[in-house]
Amino acid sequence: MNRASQAALLAALVLSPSLFAQGVERLWTTNCSNCHGANGQGGGAGTQTLLTEELMEQNLDRRFYDAIKAGVEENGMPPFGETLTPAQMWALVNHIRALQHESYRRNGGGPRESKGVYTSAHADYKLETVIASGLSTPWSVDFLPTGEMLVTERHGPLRVFRNGNLSKPISGTPKVRSGGQGGLMDVAVHPDYDRNGWVFLSYTESATQGSGSFTKLVRGKLEAAGGDWTWTDQQTVFEARSEHYTNSGLHFGCRIVFDPKDSDLVYFCIGDRGNGKRAQDLNTPNGKVLRVRTGGSIPDDNPFAGRTDAYGQVWSFGHRNPQGLCFDLAGNLWVTEHGPRGGDELNLVRKGGNYGWPLVSFGIDYSGAPLTAPWPDVVPAAKKMDIVMPTFRWMPSCAACGLDVVRAGPKGEAFPGWKGDLVAGGLAGTNVDRIRVKVNADGSSSVLEREELLIGKGRVRDVVCGPDGSVYVVLNDPHRVVRLVPVRR
Ligand code: HEC
Repeated sequence: MNRASQAALLAALVLSPSLFAQGVERLWTTNCSNCHGANGQGGGAGTQTLLTEELMEQNLDRRFYDAIKAGVEENGMPPFGETLTPAQMWALVNHIRALQHESYRRNGGGPRESKGVYTSAHADYKLETVIASGLSTPWSVDFLPTGEMLVTERHGPLRVFRNGNLSKPISGTPKVRSGGQGGLMDVAVHPDYDRNGWVFLSYTESATQGSGSFTKLVRGKLEAAGGDWTWTDQQTVFEARSEHYTNSGLHFGCRIVFDPKDSDLVYFCIGDRGNGKRAQDLNTPNGKVLRVRTGGSIPDDNPFAGRTDAYGQVWSFGHRNPQGLCFDLAGNLWVTEHGPRGGDELNLVRKGGNYGWPLVSFGIDYSGAPLTAPWPDVVPAAKKMDIVMPTFRWMPSCAACGLDVVRAGPKGEAFPGWKGDLVAGGLAGTNVDRIRVKVNADGSSSVLEREELLIGKGRVRDVVCGPDGSVYVVLNDPHRVVRLVPVRR
């Protein structure tokens, strides 16, 4: 290109930024905004606003998609099924969801707080600070039956918090590779800790050969002597085969939970490591929920146990980056995972289930480019596959991280009105949501109630129901641990 035409092109770009705009914003301005308005507020050709709370309901996703595809003849909306691809039509629904959410926030939608007291369905509560300072990117907390709270920090330390004091880092903990999204992640105290003393950790480990890293699961014991704690007796519970270590800094997972019916079974989740295809490949641990005996062996009744072309530890697959995992009070296993832009999911985990990533997704690319559509029946590559749909999808994304169930702890029950509900966190959304779910006899599931309990206090890394039943929230930026405690009405 000569200098004159280069200058002309630059001038055109400056004069017309829409030339530069790609993806879903462009699709919207080209095809939809003349009737629906730049922000979905309506007005053109007699359209109504799309920005109402009723129209934010997730069950309308498919109705919207079908309206775009087939048009709304009686109202004069033309069909777009011939000119746009399924991925483009889905991206437009995703865009409408983003416009609705912006409008909801602009108009004050979210938790209702007055003078520090939050008013919500079934319970009122306030926030109490547990650890105000001294932490850097705390990642998770769990509780010892002896009253201590254990806290991980992403760059490596594991600390003990007791009676208002945060210990120095416990010595002897594993050497973690901190960088990108990796580092020390979850800490989980075994339910029979009184008897066996096991504490489980997940972390990013550097390859012993080569330069890659992968998520690893270990267990070990804590020894306390004169106020100093030591990590001892470490054993490996899970590590990937060396060929799966990779230089990607993305999507390590990893949460750890124990089966309430058999405490010798441990479940954990690992992200796709930025390689979506591997989430569908049973012969890699990427994008999976995994299940092993607490000593690391593979249970015979795992869905792919004994196969030479699969990791026998795999319990479910097709996950992108799961960072929330819990059993509910009825014994159902739930996972929350990060989607791409606008497609985080809450899933009911089934043995051997395929959760669809990257074949189907509610999300679009971060650039705004369409990716795929969420329903197997409109995506040829997914049509004949048995893909499990999420129970709930966050649109726009909240960057789902941390999940637990509200229950009575050994020291009591703080929120009887929320008993059995899921509490789910989000990093980008700075949110804690309460979600009441229903599991039907046929294994399908749905959301009965959902409300935001918290927004705007920091990036939510972990949500854990504590020994007294209050809801602990691990925050990043600022780095704190707080908890929701009940206020009598
Ligand atoms: C010629 C005007 C026109 C154009 C262009 C148009 N629409 Fe519509 N659309 C309407 C009308 C009229 C309705 C009926 C509801 C209303 O009045 O808002 C509607 C309804 C919808 C609905 C259904 C809402 C519901 O309650 O189910 C969605 C979703 C929608 N449009 C999305 C789009 C998208 C995305 C585009 C661009 C690809 C688009 N529309 C282009 C006029 C238009």
